[in-house]
Amino acid sequence: MENRLIAWFGHRYLDVLGSIYIYNEHRGYTAIDRVMEAVLLRASDDAEFIAAIGKHRTDERKHYVMFRRWFELRGTMPLAVDRTFGHIDRFIEIMFRRSIDQLDTQAIVDREELFERLCRVISLTEQRGFKQVEILLKNRFVREDRALTRIFEVVHKDEPSHWEPYDQWLKQHARREPKWWERLVDTFVHSELLFLKLPILFLNPRMRRRTDWPDAYENNSAPALTPNLNTVSKTSQLAVPKT
Ligand SMILES: [Fe+2]
Ligand SMILES: [Fe+2]
Repeated sequence: MENRLIAWFGHRYLDVLGSIYIYNEHRGYTAIDRVMEAVLLRASDDAEFIAAIGKHRTDERKHYVMFRRWFELRGTMPLAVDRTFGHIDRFIEIMFRRSIDQLDTQAIVDREELFERLCRVISLTEQRGFKQVEILLKNRFVREDRALTRIFEVVHKDEPSHWEPYDQWLKQHARREPKWWERLVDTFVHSELLFLKLPILFLNPRMRRRTDWPDAYENNSAPALTPNLNTVSKTSQLAVPKT
């Protein structure tokens, strides 16, 4: 009885965790498209920065594809979480008082202080992601799922290269590092997600699932090489019925 309860808990926990992650990975690369728009207008001659952002976009897309594959092997669609579960969504909403999709690219191009703010938000979000993955790689439910562990190992390896270009841009342009209050907003967004939203999602039996994939209507080129999840999937499933 106790084992079944733990198995149910683990299954639900990974379901919720995977749903939040696939949302955030998808949001990650679609938000970078907005950043790229601004960079191409502002600093089209900065080839190194543009290449680094391009790699960042490719990585986030790769992460998304890995989570999608994980759900496909699990035989379920992700829970239909929206932007209230997105770290970067909340962070940008607080820092810019508007959603990512409403960000005014032209204003960011025209006003350097907005662009540097955006760089700090992205850098802090990526650093937060790195720390969170370190914690998750020690989580017993994650460790029992070999495919998911492999995904988080890839994310963990990629993450430092995601904040470095933005930190470097700030340094090269003699712009300040994040201040204590910006770190505080990041901590608030993270705590709100972890201690309030995640438990509510976990306990909500009526939460519906997505009926399509977040990238269903996008025109993405073939995903970058991903680890072969097929080879580890069979042992990674917890022995509980699919919901
Ligand atoms: Fe990612
Ligand atoms: Fe990242």
